[in-house]
Amino acid sequence: MSNDSHDFIPDLAGKVAIVTGGYTGLGFGTSIELAKHGARVYIASRSAAKFKDAELEIISECPQADVRFLMLDLANLNNVQEAAERFAQLESSLHILVNNAGVMCIPYKETIDGFETQIGVNYIGHFLFTKLLIPILQKTAGIAEKGSVRIVNVSSNGHAKLAPKEGIIFSDINMKNNFSVWARYGHSKLANVLHSKVLAKRYPNILALSLHPGTVKTNLSTGPISSTPLYRLIKPLVELGAPGPRKGAANILFAAVSPRLRLEFDNGAYLLPIGKVSAPSKAGSDPQMVEDLWEWTIKALGSRGYE
Ligand SMILES: NC(=O)c1ccc[n+]([C@@H]2O[C@H](COP(=O)([O-])OP(=O)(O)OC[C@H]3O[C@@H](n4cnc5c(N)ncnc54)[C@H](OP(=O)(O)O)[C@@H]3O)[C@@H](O)[C@H]2O)c1
Repeated sequence: MSNDSHDFIPDLAGKVAIVTGGYTGLGFGTSIELAKHGARVYIASRSAAKFKDAELEIISECPQADVRFLMLDLANLNNVQEAAERFAQLESSLHILVNNAGVMCIPYKETIDGFETQIGVNYIGHFLFTKLLIPILQKTAGIAEKGSVRIVNVSSNGHAKLAPKEGIIFSDINMKNNFSVWARYGHSKLANVLHSKVLAKRYPNILALSLHPGTVKTNLSTGPISSTPLYRLIKPLVELGAPGPRKGAANILFAAVSPRLRLEFDNGAYLLPIGKVSAPSKAGSDPQMVEDLWEWTIKALGSRGYE
């Protein structure tokens, strides 16, 4: 299968998709292909100006593309709630939700809701966004082709290499002291894997997946450069031979639309590039941790007034 041509993508006419962080990097690579294959794509992110640039690029390649902006700041739960509500007013169906936006290894800072930014944006903001979109996803799953309604959480192999070995640190979710920026990133990406597993269990009519996209040249490295300036020196080595985001989006696109993934066999799966169902880390496969993280997150959101 060629990862250049994305030739596994079927006709997506009539489908509605949301891609968080869909105007840059892997999100852009995902949005443009979904749109080129006929989906209406909502790019959910923070900057209307960056959306405009992305829209122009998509339209120049595919004049009939239908791409729209949904204002979403994952670092602000009130904004996340507003975004989900606005979407539900605009659309009556949602086939593909790609939770792609992310930050990596940025210096310690808390969101307005008191979460360290990596866990707050990469996991908790996406958890609430997804939860609020479940009714429309379920309604769509009730009428769409089986297995075509999907939630894709873009994780990383860092969930295994970088997260604390014991898994989620429930007693110190922000990992403020005694942990590196890398461990915090891995922890947030482990949460993405566990999130897909719990979604698969609770909503069996929706195909929920997580994945590692591979190493891809994007803006993500601005995070480690800002927290660890020496990273600038090793970055060329880390990215040696890595593709750009158009080619690098292949595993995300495969998870979002490939008919080879089946609801009855693959729900909750973790994918390595391209489309290889693989075992996540020990913590990422722990059914108790899957449940505990769900309970913890529901409680953390509830205590801040989000149901
Ligand atoms: N690139 C890789 O090698 C690699 C490897 C493994 C996993 N991943 C994962 O792939 C995903 C995409 O990353 P990328 O490599 O494409 O990096 P990127 O180019 O830096 O894109 C990240 C996107 O997330 C958005 N974002 C950040 N904070 C946000 C917030 N508070 N609210 C809404 N959107 C926000 C950014 O929007 P702004 O421009 O507005 O900040 C940007 O569009 C991430 O989840 C990352 O962990 C990437």
